[in-house]
Parts: sequence; structure tokens; C-alpha cells
Amino acid sequence: MIAGRLEKLQLIVVTGKGGVGKSSVTAMLGRLLSGMRRKTLLIEVDPRENLHHLFDIPPSGGDVVEVDPFLKIQHLEPRSIIDDLVREKLKVGFLVKRVLASPVHQHFTAGAPGIKEAAVFGRALRWLEGHHPRGIETPECIILDAPATGHGVSWLLAAQLVSDVVKSGPIGEMAADVAAFLGDEARSGTVVVGMAEEMPVEETRELIEAMKTRMQRRPEFVVLNALYPPVPDEGTDSEADDFLHDLWIRRRQINESERARLAAVWEGPLLELPLLPMDPGPALVGRLGVELSRWLSRQASGRGGRG
Ligand SMILES: Nc1ncnc2c1ncn2[C@@H]1O[C@H](COP(=O)(O)OP(=O)(O)O)[C@@H](O)[C@H]1O
Ligand SMILES: [Mg+2]
Repeated sequence: MIAGRLEKLQLIVVTGKGGVGKSSVTAMLGRLLSGMRRKTLLIEVDPRENLHHLFDIPPSGGDVVEVDPFLKIQHLEPRSIIDDLVREKLKVGFLVKRVLASPVHQHFTAGAPGIKEAAVFGRALRWLEGHHPRGIETPECIILDAPATGHGVSWLLAAQLVSDVVKSGPIGEMAADVAAFLGDEARSGTVVVGMAEEMPVEETRELIEAMKTRMQRRPEFVVLNALYPPVPDEGTDSEADDFLHDLWIRRRQINESERARLAAVWEGPLLELPLLPMDPGPALVGRLGVELSRWLSRQASGRGGRG
């Protein structure tokens, strides 16, 4: 049962192609969890900071900022996390400076595949365990708004790849912990966001397949965002209206055929969210939240159909 999962999971990774609505879904889930009175932290790892717009608060700039008493957001630079790791392990100031400035360190953190991704998860894990700066409340759940760069699944597999290569030392230990955490159904889950259009559905299908074959896991649920509403039957009065009506029919047809193409590989829970005539902001997040709550109660009563 999905609501039950959302009450328990410690980490939820929201992933999918760029521009499909990941940040909006992250914000929507954050509000839901804070409504459940779970202390929730949303982490955004995108060079462009966006999440704060959805709550109409100032940007985080790396700090933890409050949305409501149960909901906080933080924007993270993966690079700064790795530097923090070095600082923590090498407590001596001059050593830290030397390591951080050394070309080897710079090369390693910028180039080594998977390190940045594993470090973000490693940070999340440590904070969940209560190892965070003083003055910050230990989150009960972290929702990661995963960046769109690269393939969605590379984020989920990164720690495993690192831990296969780096067997010891702080990075190796961290990567092994993260890989175990991401493999643990009781603690972590993934929400895959897509739109009912060709490329996003392609990516969503690949992501589900890769999770299955490479992690033996499946998403908690899949979101099809920004669906055009069904077209009403009545005709239109003018040529301009005819054009819009045809456009609407066409978009809706694409949505329906792509939804069917997704259904061929995904029989699990599917949340459909409508295209809303709204700008990004709290009102949009609120409306999406209403759709989510209705869907969750349909799921709970067995009327959700899928899942
Ligand atoms: N259901 C929706 N209806 C209307 N606009 C939406 C919807 N979902 C997202 N948007 C808009 O689409 C754009 C991309 O959404 P965003 O959540 O930032 O995507 P991502 O994080 O995947 O790049 C934003 O301007 C957002 O306000
Ligand atoms: Mg985003």
C-alpha cells in the first residue's frame, strides 16, 4: 500500500527526464509527508536552484531552509559534500587545505564516475542517522530531487559501481553503505516521473527495466505528469477554435497512446496528474497534492485500478 510506504520510507528518490515535473512532484510529496507530520527534508541537486520557487521562499544557497515546521529544503553541490568528507576525515587544517587544493583530489572528485552521486546519498544517509551539524533537526525522511543529467538510473547505481572499485577508506565505506541502503526495500524507494510523450515514456520504460535487472527493485509508483484532459464532444464556432480543438485532440491522442506503451511494461501503481493552467508555485503544488491525496485514497480502497 502506497500511503503506508510513504509513512515509513526514509529516502525517496524522485527521478526522470528533465522538464517532466520532477521538482513539482518532489514538492508535492514533501507537502504530503509534512501533512503526515513526518520531518521531511527535500534535497535538490540541480545547478539551477528551483525548488524554493515552488514554495515561494528564498533560495537555500546551500543552507537548510524551512518551508513549514515539518518541511525543509536544501540545495546541494555534490562537490562541496566531498570536500566536507575530506575535512571530516583529515581534521588537521593544513592537511585539509593541501588535499582540497591538490590536482589529484580535484581530478578524482570531478571525474571519477559515481563519486558525486554516491556522496549525495552518503550525506543523506548520515543525516538520517543523526550525523549532521548542530542546530539541524534529524530528518525522518529525505526526498531527493535527482538531477536530469545523464541517465536516471546512473544515480541509483553509482554507489554500487564505486563500491565495486573502491573497497576501503572513507569513500569505499560510504559507497558500500549507500549501495546497501538503496537496495533495502524497507528504507528507500524511487518514484519515476515522466510525461505521456514519446521520449519521456521511452526513458521511463528504460528506467523501470534497468531498476529491475540491475537492482532487483521496482519504483514505488510511476507518475505521468501534465496529461491533457479528455476532449469534449461538442464542436466549435470558429476556425481559430477548430485549430485549438484539433491541437487538443492530437495531444490527447499522443498522451493516450504513450500511456498504453508505458502500460505494456508497467503494471504497478500509476499516478496520472493533469496539465494545469498554472505557473510554478505553491498553488500548483497544492493542486497536484489534491490529485495525489485522491489517488492515494482510491488506491487504499482498491478503486485505484492499477497496483
Ligand atoms: N502538471 C503540471 N501542469 C502544468 N505545469 C506543470 C505541471 N507540472 C510541471 N509543470 C511546469 O513544468 C515546468 C517543469 O516542471 P519541473 O517540476 O520544474 O520539472 P523538472 O524538475 O523535471 O525539470 C515548470 O515550469 C512547472 O511549473
Ligand atoms: Mg527540477
